[in-house]
Amino acid sequence: MLAIEPEFMPVPLEMQERIDRFFEEHADDPIGNVGSRVIFEDDRLRIWELILEPGQASDLHHHECDYYLLISAGDLVAGIPPKSTGIDPFLAKIPEAGNTVMIPKGGLEWAFNVGEKTYREVLVEYKDS
Ligand SMILES: [Fe+2]
Repeated sequence: MLAIEPEFMPVPLEMQERIDRFFEEHADDPIGNVGSRVIFEDDRLRIWELILEPGQASDLHHHECDYYLLISAGDLVAGIPPKSTGIDPFLAKIPEAGNTVMIPKGGLEWAFNVGEKTYREVLVEYKDS
């Protein structure tokens, strides 16, 4: 699984309506976890697994540290920052072979599986970053 630049796509109109509904349904979400469960932890790292079925979203999460993502399955995922951030939602196409992506700390968002395949990723959280 090589590191490939994520392929970002503009949000098409029909997807924008879906994202607008998402904002309405999740307006009061508290901040939660970056992943579905912790699969490893020591003093330096916390490693999470995130699995999203089509139509499923992660918790609203804050990237408080730097992360390295290992994406092993999926086809299309949206990153949706809350409207209060002023940052537009984005779509990322998952390459057939998966992808690895560095995510610097600071982001606040939901991950929303808007594709047709199960999305699977492992997130390596660098606690000291
Ligand atoms: Fe994220």
